[in-house]
Amino acid sequence: MDKLVITGGARLSGEVSISGAKNAALPILCASLLSSEPLTLTNVPCLNDIGTMLKLLAQMGVKVERDGENVSLDASGLNNPEAPYELVKTMRASILVLGPLLARCGEARVSLPGGCAIGARPVDQHIKGLLAMGAEVAVEHGYITAKAPRLRGARLFTDMVTVTGTENLMMAACLADGETVIENAAREPEVVDLAQCLVSMGAQISGAGTDLIRIRGVDRLHGASHRIMPDRIETGTFLCAAAATSGDIRLNGTSTGYLDAVVDKLMDAGCELIGEKTPRHESIRIMAPARLKAVSIRTAPYPAFPTDMQAQFMAINCVADGTAVIRETIFENRFMHAVELQRLGADIKIDGNTAFVTGVERLQGATVMATDLRASASLVIAGLVAEGETHIERIYHLDRGYEQIERKMGALGAKIRREKA
Ligand code: EPZ
Repeated sequence: MDKLVITGGARLSGEVSISGAKNAALPILCASLLSSEPLTLTNVPCLNDIGTMLKLLAQMGVKVERDGENVSLDASGLNNPEAPYELVKTMRASILVLGPLLARCGEARVSLPGGCAIGARPVDQHIKGLLAMGAEVAVEHGYITAKAPRLRGARLFTDMVTVTGTENLMMAACLADGETVIENAAREPEVVDLAQCLVSMGAQISGAGTDLIRIRGVDRLHGASHRIMPDRIETGTFLCAAAATSGDIRLNGTSTGYLDAVVDKLMDAGCELIGEKTPRHESIRIMAPARLKAVSIRTAPYPAFPTDMQAQFMAINCVADGTAVIRETIFENRFMHAVELQRLGADIKIDGNTAFVTGVERLQGATVMATDLRASASLVIAGLVAEGETHIERIYHLDRGYEQIERKMGALGAKIRREKA
């Protein structure tokens, strides 16, 4: 297994281009199942999770063509509405094919995703919504089997805010008979990007970005072209890397618009951020102080502080001035990066879903292990400021969600290299 070797101490400077959003691209790739006409996408990130999803769609009979960031999908030959365990177990987001397959084919057989490192990750809300729309659903032998000659519009209420739950049900509702209302809907920008793509395919959706989304079903969707939004979590990750290293960098192809909660906290920590937007270009410049002030955070659904930025903020608080309180309210086991950061000399105390992080003068390089996608990112940030060398093992986690991170960080002056196993 590959590892990353980082020599700490470099202040990041220069410019970096932000890729398309993984968590927008994944549901939008699944939206191609809803139409027999081609969907053409641009700004699709080159990530392992994207590759996995394209493989899954191809084996269902979708014709996939990829040229770098451009992907075209033609589901006219869709003939196998099944998502097998072998692929689903490597990427939970495969559950996002369930709604579209059921809506387009009237049937679907999708492996239960199972849990992952950060939590049990149930999909009961996805199933509850499909049942309310008239589907027959059985869960047996590790598979969800669903049937519905035609889904019917319904008023849905999710017990908690669920991003992919909202996305699955919104896609299923596009071809249902009548109107569907999703209450307590997720408001994440990725949900809005999916809705914009679906509308360009002829769907009738209003309210995306609010907690009440209305979808009026239509008989079919047509082909379209769509550009994937920038990845706000990659953006936040590079902002944190600059913050930790007293850096001064510009991030191109992204904006602060989707990251107000993160930008506020970075400013509280002492950073200066300048957003620039022209009709053809948007960017963020961040200038960090010599030493950050500790900032406390509490994760919650958008627009509050995103759980996907929690690990990165734990890392910057490890070298900030003061003590930060970090509360994780979304997932039940999303502090696994803490023990790895402690190996680097961090002062972190965990009490349930709360972490108390007291900044130290310097972290010391060590060998650490990535446990999940965003935990890996926090270890990269810590390695950038640790004294000496930090070796990060199991970086396949990182490759799922960050495009060539060592190339992008290296271009900003980081001393970082990938060592093939
Ligand atoms: C999405 O996961 C993201 N993944 C996650 O990003 C992100 O952390 C999460 O939303 C929260 O923002 C994608 O978009 C592909 P949820 P999702 O359903 O949809 C519980 C990353 O790093 N829940 O919003 O799976 C669930 O257990 C990944 O890119 C149920 O109980 O998350 C959790 O506690 C990690 N039953 C909470 O709701 C359900 O049916 C929120 O989960 C669904 C969810």
